[in-house]
Amino acid sequence: MTRTQVGIIGAGPAGLMLSHLLHLAGIDSVILESRPRKAIEETIRAGVLEQNTVDLMVETGVGERLKREGFVHHGFDFRFEGHSHRIDLSALTNGRAITVYAQHEVLKDLIQARLDAGADIRFGVGDVVLHDVASSPRITFTDADGKAGELACEIIAGCDGSYGVSRPAIPAEMRRDFLRIYPFGWFGILAEAPPSSHELIYARHDRGFALISTRSADVQRMYFQCDPADSVENWSEDRIWEELQTRTEGEGFRLKEGRIFQKNIVPMRSFVCEPMQYGRLFIAGDAAHTVPPTGAKGLNLAVADVFVLSRALERFFKAGSDEGLQAYSATALKRIWRAQHFSWWMTSMLHRFEDATEFDRRRQLAELELVTSSESAARTIAENYVGLPLG
Ligand code: FAD
Ligand code: DHB
Repeated sequence: MTRTQVGIIGAGPAGLMLSHLLHLAGIDSVILESRPRKAIEETIRAGVLEQNTVDLMVETGVGERLKREGFVHHGFDFRFEGHSHRIDLSALTNGRAITVYAQHEVLKDLIQARLDAGADIRFGVGDVVLHDVASSPRITFTDADGKAGELACEIIAGCDGSYGVSRPAIPAEMRRDFLRIYPFGWFGILAEAPPSSHELIYARHDRGFALISTRSADVQRMYFQCDPADSVENWSEDRIWEELQTRTEGEGFRLKEGRIFQKNIVPMRSFVCEPMQYGRLFIAGDAAHTVPPTGAKGLNLAVADVFVLSRALERFFKAGSDEGLQAYSATALKRIWRAQHFSWWMTSMLHRFEDATEFDRRRQLAELELVTSSESAARTIAENYVGLPLG
């Protein structure tokens, strides 16, 4: 049996950042992660970091490579009806910006920092079960070699993503789930090509949404709206490029094409679990909520949750006060619902809905006209996109 102050389930952005922040506050934690380290460090996911996430990483000593290799973007383009309209993020938010730096690079940096500080991270564990979460919590598991293990802790942080075991450990009658499923998904690619644009492009087209992002001078990340039940095998390179070219056309713009070396389809949903606490179990990140990726909020929300949770745990362990912990769920949910609205809003403005009428189409275009021509509407987009202050 191992003892620790905080038992963390999941080594995604939420679990690793929480462990890192707790360590800086002198609080001990152990992380149990079901996947091997290599798999975590290679999974392609999000890419946009809010100013808050960047600042937190830099201030807490894990932002060296991010500062060197991340791309700071001061604006992005909305493209519709063949024209681009720039949202000047920095001018509209007192100089704030976003940074494009892949999620798995954030994870590599956090894992390295935790291991350098002597952290106990168990990769490749199985059969994770939470016990006695309302009184004296324990977690049982089997380690990577199949040996049974047990972790006794004062607090459990459930950071195990959308399909983990933590959320179900909150009794169904104690929680309420809010879910919206969208009738489309995103087809994501990585391509060996130079950037086609120096900023991100969020494009609305009658054939559906497309997003042009980047990873480096030689690798580009792009997405387009698709049927969530479609299969990547149905899409040849030529068909993908033709679809992306069509959806982003206008003003002579042409995407720079190249070999596509990664394809995946992700379904889209909005989800919130309330409250995010039961007894001594606190859930954070995707374990508690999911947003459609259009607002680029998933990873950033996970970081914001554990920022609040780490401060509450510090008060608990240092001052013996559980006030912060009692307020954790309500505090985190305020930001989460703000991000839920923003992500839904961006999704609804930019995607093609099969049942949309000609009225809906014109209304959608009028909304895009509004957010690209009215400074106050553009500022609302910009403030939400770069992220509201933490805490
Ligand atoms: P996760 O990153 O999911 O981490 C949870 C960890 O817990 C995982 O490492 C998992 O292996 C582990 N785990 C699960 N179950 C157990 C268990 N029983 N025991 C132990 N460990 C367990 N957001 C965007 O903004 N833009 C995007 O383009 C984007 N793309 C995405 C693509 C995919 C395929 C997915 C799934 C998500 C994407 N997201 C995107 C969302 C974003 O990546 C997440 O919001 C973010 O990863 C949340 O971090 P987290 O730490 O809460 O959860
Ligand atoms: C990326 C992902 C997003 O969800 C988004 O809104 C912008 C960029 C990306 O992976 O680069």
